[in-house]
Amino acid sequence: MGNNVIKILPDILSNKIAAGEVVDRPSSVVKELVENALDAGAQQITVIIKDGGKSLIQVIDDGCGMVEADAILCFERHSTSKISTVDDLHNIQTLGFRGEALASIASVSRVEMKTRTESNPEGTWLKLEGGIIQHLGKTGCARGTSIMVKTLFFNTPARRKFLKSDQAEYRHILQIMNRFLLSHSEIAFTLYKDGQMVYQYSPTDLKGRIRQVFGEKHAQNLIPVNFDIPEVTIHGVVGGMDLFRQTRGEQFLFLNRRYILNKSINFAVISAYESMLPNRLQPFYVLFLEVNPQQVDVNVHPSKIEVRFEDERRIFSIVQRAVKEALRSTEVVPVLRTTETTSATAQAKSSPQKTAPISYRPKEQYFPFEFRHTKRRPNGVSSPIAKPQTEQQVSQEEEWEKPSFEERISIWQLHDKYIFSQIKSGLLIIDQHLAHERILYEQALETFRKSRPASQQQLFPKAVELSPEDYDILLEVQFYLNKLGFIVKDFGKRTVIIEAIPATLKKADEEKVLREIIDEYRNSEELDIRDKVAKSYACKSAIKAGDRLTQTEMIALIDGLFATQNPYFCPHGRPIIVTIPLEELDKRFMRL
Ligand SMILES: Nc1ncnc2c1ncn2[C@@H]1O[C@H](COP(=O)(O)OP(=O)(O)OP(=O)(O)O)[C@@H](O)[C@H]1O
Ligand SMILES: [Mg+2]
Repeated sequence: MGNNVIKILPDILSNKIAAGEVVDRPSSVVKELVENALDAGAQQITVIIKDGGKSLIQVIDDGCGMVEADAILCFERHSTSKISTVDDLHNIQTLGFRGEALASIASVSRVEMKTRTESNPEGTWLKLEGGIIQHLGKTGCARGTSIMVKTLFFNTPARRKFLKSDQAEYRHILQIMNRFLLSHSEIAFTLYKDGQMVYQYSPTDLKGRIRQVFGEKHAQNLIPVNFDIPEVTIHGVVGGMDLFRQTRGEQFLFLNRRYILNKSINFAVISAYESMLPNRLQPFYVLFLEVNPQQVDVNVHPSKIEVRFEDERRIFSIVQRAVKEALRSTEVVPVLRTTETTSATAQAKSSPQKTAPISYRPKEQYFPFEFRHTKRRPNGVSSPIAKPQTEQQVSQEEEWEKPSFEERISIWQLHDKYIFSQIKSGLLIIDQHLAHERILYEQALETFRKSRPASQQQLFPKAVELSPEDYDILLEVQFYLNKLGFIVKDFGKRTVIIEAIPATLKKADEEKVLREIIDEYRNSEELDIRDKVAKSYACKSAIKAGDRLTQTEMIALIDGLFATQNPYFCPHGRPIIVTIPLEELDKRFMRL
């Protein structure tokens, strides 16, 4: 050995290595520069991109700017104005704190910066190449800072080659920008790409910003989340069912206004939707978690995107509760409005948003329930005279005009599939299969909680031979099936005997239903066995489209549906009910 091998790396080299962590592609430069602009108190931020950020990334802000000495220092490693003591590190209120970003970026690009503080008449102009200052001078410029990052990775060709197409890099930048747009809706943002303006968003509130970025449909399908307890506050919005998507792109979680990724919290949100959310679909959400900075460690990941909570499980359950309560407070029933104008969208795009608080239609408006399947009043009618005309009265008049029906109810079945009914606000349409599925599902869960189900003994117990896999599944769920009233005994050799079936089931179907439940169970991605059995059972035992129903059956179905916890969505998340408001019809017939 003899020779010593450990050397202190020259700064330039160590910056380059650090850059490998902090700056891995153009979008991460955008992230660091915009964070700095926000930390500097900017109200207006402009981002200019050329060739996917490979040839130019420029960020212009109207923040506090820097004096000359700071302008030089900020490109040094570990130069930061944001923390100075170890205590500060545990109480970070800014997006940046490591004093690494600019040093790293400058070491792998050509940087030009102009910056001026309020009190200085003249600004500082600085040019660097590979982290080394090439030019320092004075310049006239607006208050704030403008940083240009040119030819990123010019001196690390391997990294440069590793970059994706301009288009792909640009898409990454858009994603990064979306996070800032949502976390800082009160800030104006402008984006240029290859000389063209992509957007210019004025300051607004969260809903307004969502409208600017994602459009009117998103803005109209938000459910506010507001949850406050001493150690945590959660606010923001979660999307209704119209915003469910196949992919995960539209989920934003911010911790103390910093975008983070956290699987556990993401799962907390998703699980809060319960059966409202169909398998494999993803909800839209923008949620802000505020916790005492001392309870999180943001310094576990180079780009601070992962954080560590002191008590992750507690955060999980708090988030889950917050979202659950939000979802419960609004009914996310889809209202069929086909004549919806698109002008609102256009308008929203051009005019600055008023900072109106997010408002939602109250529950009653969706369900002014008043089924007229209650028994007719003893003397049959009420006087059609007096009182000014109201919707209520119009229907009473009808009843009066056609009193010949013994039980006159405004319920009817369309194509043996949908149930229509008049409600106060217009028309209600129910999918009969889904409605029944919801009822059976909740009954099943209820039965699991209690003990004895209603089952009917089979006169001739039926032996059914199953495939090895099905047999295996059956043994797994046997306990729960029994609870549902499916008394299935294991006869060995993959054969089971169906001794009794749920009282609600038609006798002839027992084997078919059993097999279907097994199939459904196999294909379900649900984790909880009970839920999985309940869903499979509900889905396969429910009445189907094509089943003709009597008035009594329809009434029972509707009654049962509205006695459930969630009459609006089937266990797989499909809507059970659609309403058509009277005003929608009036519009169509040009009464309005
Ligand atoms: N746009 C800006 N306006 C005003 N000051 C700035 C701006 N950008 C950077 N600075 C100053 O330069 C310093 C260094 O910035 P840099 O991004 O390298 O580190 P940081 O933000 O402190 O920490 P991090 O590495 O975590 O981002 C900042 O602390 C800040 O004082
Ligand atoms: Mg920074």
